Amino acid sequence: MKKLLLSIILIIAAVALNPPNSNAIAGKQLFKKEECILCHTINKKGGTMGPNLSAIGKIRSYLWIRRQIRNPKLNFFTPNSFVIFHGKIYESIMPANKKISANNLNKLAGYLKSLK
Ligand code: HEC
Repeated sequence: MKKLLLSIILIIAAVALNPPNSNAIAGKQLFKKEECILCHTINKKGGTMGPNLSAIGKIRSYLWIRRQIRNPKLNFFTPNSFVIFHGKIYESIMPANKKISANNLNKLAGYLKSLK
């Protein structure tokens, strides 16, 4: 009986602790795999063509980040949000990632939202 109770507690602990953790690791890997890292820096690693994302979770919502990955033009080029690049104004110069799966999109956005 004690053993059974212990295993139940361990399973509950594993379920409770694992998903966010493994999601964060998966999100971090996707940041490289989906080539975000070519343009964005997180914790001093990555490119500089796009904004530094080391604390992006502080200023943007989860849904906003998700939208930015699938369709950046929906986030930028509102009257007070546009991109100036080499002296010209653009609605958005980040490439839209249309082929990322919904599952991976959630992991990637969840990882970025966790950066504070
Ligand atoms: C070719 C370079 C490039 C790549 C690749 C790229 N981005 Fe971007 N990203 C940008 C630029 C430039 C901006 C500024 C806004 C815009 O152009 O839409 C931006 C903006 C963002 C923002 C909003 C930053 C802010 O301060 O509001 C997020 C979040 C973001 N990118 C995430 C990603 C993720 C996740 C990926 C990978 C799927 C990615 N980016 C791939 C260039 C890039």
